[in-house]
Amino acid sequence: MRRIAGKNLVLIGFMGTGKTEAGRLLAGELNRRMVDTDQLIEQREGMSIGDIFKKYGEPYFRGREQELICELAAQRGLVIATGGGIVLNGENVRILRDSGYLVWLDAEVGEVATRLAGDTTRPLLAGQDESDIAELYEQRQPLYGAAAHVRVSTTRKTPLAVVGEIIRVLAE
Ligand code: S3P
Repeated sequence: MRRIAGKNLVLIGFMGTGKTEAGRLLAGELNRRMVDTDQLIEQREGMSIGDIFKKYGEPYFRGREQELICELAAQRGLVIATGGGIVLNGENVRILRDSGYLVWLDAEVGEVATRLAGDTTRPLLAGQDESDIAELYEQRQPLYGAAAHVRVSTTRKTPLAVVGEIIRVLAE
């Protein structure tokens, strides 16, 4: 595990690629503490991401997200599951790369759309159809690619299989 010795392990990727579940399982395997940025923001704000967007707007959420990234990047040995928009801010990426090893969980757009169908918890998807999701997905792909140290596909894989693959990559 020399790739992540003394570092945070950071999962990035589009909505619906399985970051939270993989993060939870990975943290168990590696005996590390897991932090999910969305969950922690919800806890601190005392409301869901959807309500934060509704009440204060997206820029407010992005501000909380950036503060949290700074706070977590000052720690070591965490598994961090991030929100899909973390890469929109170049400073977030720089800070995370300084303290961590970034794994991009990627999935084919068709599978992402299937996984996200009917989701009501993600404000950016409200009122969006499959082609809107595909457009956002295409815009984001280069950002994840540029931010990550390594890419792991989650298409047609169980969370356990994904975690097995991440652990293999880390051991290389
Ligand atoms: C977002 C992704 C969400 C959440 C928010 C915005 C995005 O997290 O942070 O709804 O901009 O991609 P998940 O990737 O965990 O769904």
